Amino acid sequence: MNTNIDTAALDVGYDVPALPGMDEADIQTPCLVLDLDALERNILRMGEYAKAHGMRHRSHGKMHKSVDVQKLQERLGGAVGVCCQKVSEAEVFARGGIQDILVSNEVRDPAKIDRLARLPAFGSRITVCVDDMANVAELSVAAQRHGTTLACLVEIDCGQGRCGVGTVREAVDLAKAIDAASSLTFAGLQAYQGSMQHLEHYADRKAKLDDAIVFVKAVVAALRAEGLEPELVSGGGTGSYYFESASGVYNELQCGSYAFMDADYGRIKDAHGQRIDRSEWENALFVLTSVMSHAKPDQAVCDAGLKVLSVDSGLPVVHGRDDVRYASISDEHGVIEDKHGALRINEKLRLIPGHCDPTCNLHDWYVGVRNGKVEVVWPVSARGKAY
Ligand SMILES: Cc1ncc(COP(=O)(O)O)c(C=O)c1O
Repeated sequence: MNTNIDTAALDVGYDVPALPGMDEADIQTPCLVLDLDALERNILRMGEYAKAHGMRHRSHGKMHKSVDVQKLQERLGGAVGVCCQKVSEAEVFARGGIQDILVSNEVRDPAKIDRLARLPAFGSRITVCVDDMANVAELSVAAQRHGTTLACLVEIDCGQGRCGVGTVREAVDLAKAIDAASSLTFAGLQAYQGSMQHLEHYADRKAKLDDAIVFVKAVVAALRAEGLEPELVSGGGTGSYYFESASGVYNELQCGSYAFMDADYGRIKDAHGQRIDRSEWENALFVLTSVMSHAKPDQAVCDAGLKVLSVDSGLPVVHGRDDVRYASISDEHGVIEDKHGALRINEKLRLIPGHCDPTCNLHDWYVGVRNGKVEVVWPVSARGKAY
């Protein structure tokens, strides 16, 4: 057996799609590209909206999974902290220096509860959702073991039909139990209505949120009657944040997708019947791809397939081009309909992914570009952190 491996020969270069300072044209594909101007405008816009409406904005990190993007949201958009869904994501954000972290989810596995309870010792405020009495004791024991304090939100089911208690009584009982438990603090309510966010029409989304708000108000009134003031009433997404802001009962938003946008979300309509990716938000996230084959005159093949694009919410859309269409996908290939034979080998296309969250989770790097140059290369810090 030959063990004389020439390691120099294996040193094939840098394992990143781009380096800062490079021309955009030299980026290796397929990779995630962020239009930094568009991203910053989206972040500023949400920040200004939240401020003007007296709302806190806790940007949802399940979407970008990036310490760098989160820091931009805090610095530029005034975000008060991050939401995430998993303990492993919370660990990444805590390690990255994010000070206020909400796991907007239940944590039940004893090993994960233990990891969660350790986290405040590293300097971040950690908040978690609770929808079951037994979980109160589990979290309290773990926090006492580590000498930490966990803030808890009672999660109520606002119509999504997923996690969260469904009655005022259960919510109040849980809040009382949290309030009485050692090493836990009752911090308020998690009241996210997720199932309406992608409904196309504004009026349909509003009707769902109106129902949610009635329930949230009833819970808040019952809590106050028991002397339990919720510090936070948190919820809201890109398809609903204006309803929570106008409700008079929510005080914190959890929007995520607004910052990057995607093809599926972009189709929903605002109050004036405009697509939200033509009115409120800009596409800031793209999968950059290159044409690698044009063996047939009316069809090009690009290098972005299922391993770099999530298609649970539909195929990607080619940005800024009406003459070509992403038509079908396989593991490493995308077939582009090119009726006029317009595309050339190595020509690059910006694809707007169907669904931003799971697409970002497929990548190691964000390549941030401005004026045709690579400005930053950021790791997708919590990529694959699903436990
Ligand atoms: C609990 C929670 N809050 C907020 C959001 C953010 O929603 P959006 O990406 O629609 O802004 C999500 C997204 O799924 C969520 O699960």
